[in-house]
Amino acid sequence: MIVVGGSSCQDLASKVAEKLGTKAARLEIRRFPDGEKYLRVLEDVKGDEVVVIQSIHHTPDELLFEYLLIVDALKDLGAKKVYSFIPYFAYARQDERFNAGEALSFRTVGKLIKSVGTEELFTIDMHQHRVLKSSEVFGIPTRDLSAMPLLADYVQATGELDHPLVIGPDADAERWAKLAADQLKADYDVFEKKRLSSEIVTVKPRKLDAKGRDVLIVDDIISTGGTIVEATKVLFAQGARKVIVACTHPILAGNALEKIRQAGAAQIIGTDTIPGPISFVSVAPLIAQTVREMPNRVPL
Ligand code: R5P
Repeated sequence: MIVVGGSSCQDLASKVAEKLGTKAARLEIRRFPDGEKYLRVLEDVKGDEVVVIQSIHHTPDELLFEYLLIVDALKDLGAKKVYSFIPYFAYARQDERFNAGEALSFRTVGKLIKSVGTEELFTIDMHQHRVLKSSEVFGIPTRDLSAMPLLADYVQATGELDHPLVIGPDADAERWAKLAADQLKADYDVFEKKRLSSEIVTVKPRKLDAKGRDVLIVDDIISTGGTIVEATKVLFAQGARKVIVACTHPILAGNALEKIRQAGAAQIIGTDTIPGPISFVSVAPLIAQTVREMPNRVPL
């Protein structure tokens, strides 16, 4: 098994390779003077199984194209099977035509991924709010993993929360709240969220009262931070003692971090699906474990 990291996941790929007792294969990636991307695989992959890791964030078009170049080159160079891990999967939101004439980006990306050939596609806490079975759209086996247990373990190890209440800031976050709560043996609830614009949301509580409680808010993504800021404010208005925030994909657009800190969150924690200032938790153990458990895997 060979591990290859695209340019968005070099550190993550090295960590995964280390956990699997191997080394990440080297790629040469540069640009031609006209801006085109040049890619060269610097290892012999003939007959090997390869794990490719590439998040598509911040410059999704560029990183998606690079991913396609990597997989196509590996297959063309004789790799036996390619397993793809796209920890942060951009374009998952546009899985529906919300307004007439819109491109179904999610489906288009799926077609491209299928066209270069991947044995199985793994994502992590993908923003699947309408299409729940990506494999049916993409036409290849697709599995969504979750970083929530890792995030919950990290939070528990800090010892910062006493008998926490886990909150998902909207109904779609229930699956993540449940996973984190199960790991922490805690209770959980979700808020009702209304999105008024890409930056403005309102949230209101359902049943659980946060008065005097330590709260862990979990979500898949922190983008502008609007969702978490509102949820944090509501929790403090209810009398919460402490709020810690955890997400899988810290996009952190603009001054998201500052806004969440100002709202009073004691800690903001993310993973390295998108490396950045709050990527305290690595998803490397999750990817390595998934690779180890692949059926009929060729031994390292
Ligand atoms: C929405 O459905 C997602 O799960 C996140 O809550 C959302 O992407 C967060 O965005 P923002 O940080 O901009 O509120």
